[in-house]
Amino acid sequence: MSHTQFRTNREFAATMDEGDPLAHFRQRFHIPKTENGEDCTYLCGHSLGLQPKTAKAYLEQELDDWARLGVQGHFHGKNPWLPYHRLLAEQTSALAGAEPGEIVVMNSLTMNLHLMMASFYRPSLQRHKILIEHGAFPSDQYAVKSQIRFHHFDVAESLFDLSPRAGESCLRDEDIDEFIEREGESIALILLGGVNYATGQVFDLERVTKAGHKKGCIVAFDLAHAAGNVPLRLHECGADFAVWCSYKYLNGGPGCVAGCFVHERHSRSLDLPRFAGWWGHDEHTRFHMGPDFRPMLGAEGWQLSNPPILALAPLRASMEIFSEAGMERLRAKSLSLTSYMEFLLRAIDSPKFSIITPPQEQRRGAQLSIQIHNRGRELCDRLTARGVIGDWREPNVYRVAPVPLYNSYSDVYRFVHLFQEALQ
Ligand SMILES: Cc1ncc(COP(=O)(O)O)c(C=O)c1O
Repeated sequence: MSHTQFRTNREFAATMDEGDPLAHFRQRFHIPKTENGEDCTYLCGHSLGLQPKTAKAYLEQELDDWARLGVQGHFHGKNPWLPYHRLLAEQTSALAGAEPGEIVVMNSLTMNLHLMMASFYRPSLQRHKILIEHGAFPSDQYAVKSQIRFHHFDVAESLFDLSPRAGESCLRDEDIDEFIEREGESIALILLGGVNYATGQVFDLERVTKAGHKKGCIVAFDLAHAAGNVPLRLHECGADFAVWCSYKYLNGGPGCVAGCFVHERHSRSLDLPRFAGWWGHDEHTRFHMGPDFRPMLGAEGWQLSNPPILALAPLRASMEIFSEAGMERLRAKSLSLTSYMEFLLRAIDSPKFSIITPPQEQRRGAQLSIQIHNRGRELCDRLTARGVIGDWREPNVYRVAPVPLYNSYSDVYRFVHLFQEALQ
């Protein structure tokens, strides 16, 4: 729906909710409550997704199997633990647009980023640089800087930190292209966020990958804010690797096990250097307990340890819901919800804030980042006191994400109404 069809009155939101074919999915989640028992206006799926009501049952199933079967649960549980992580890889690969063998669900995001860089960041004197976007998530910055130092290079010389043009908040696609074209021969690794955590800008993964590969760079993405938020076609786009966490739009629960994609063209490169652990060893001979590591084919070959089943179980609950809802339908609702929020915010017409997320639909996901020009932290606190859960990122950004699985048009309406009050 375009901006010209949106209306600013409350009834419009109610009518949109009535006509929303995905509205019933909200009932499948626990919505946090205010002190007087009303639903919070939860707009923080970009930080921690809500708990599917079925998560407990999925977890209890594994606790029960553990109680009932002990170690036999690995083979005889309802969902045997030995191949348990594969249930998730299958569902995740559909969501990520990848072949099942290209996905593994393991560890945490930053940990996976390091494991991937151990294999794919192989700096040489001619090609040692890493390109990231200015304002990349701090953990990514720490990770790449530590990798550069680990290889005895100097961060000042080996890190490109690409900034938007003066006075702009987001990078332009053509500027990324131009930079890679110019500097690409010295770049070993390009690592961009699929969606920048601060601005909400979506990068064109295919375009960046193409530009990087043309220059011989490894191209990778941090999809923490993209997985479960925007449609992904990782296999087709051809990126070398990608990593993401599962506690944001994927609703896997705090600190949930993360995801990792390795393009299949690398999956048979058994001589790629890697940090090894027994769970990455060929499963047919893993329990022969031999001294020499022979990796599984595909992304599973990067596993280190046997997976934490109790942490994976809640993620299965959420992935079931994703399979039912379908990413295409979710994206369609997401585009509409976010545009509606933008429409209402623009209708306030105040100089006290500006939206720094790109206005073009294809350049953003669910999140809008609102730059508050003065005393924004206080505004955020006032909204929290009224039951609106967004989040604050220093120095001046308030981030809100209407999530199509559990947010409604009425949530968006209520948020903007309270935001306007709090501004005053
Ligand atoms: C874009 C991005 N990258 C990396 C991380 C770090 O994730 P983890 O703590 O799971 O390693 C986060 C966490 O919010 C993030 O938003």
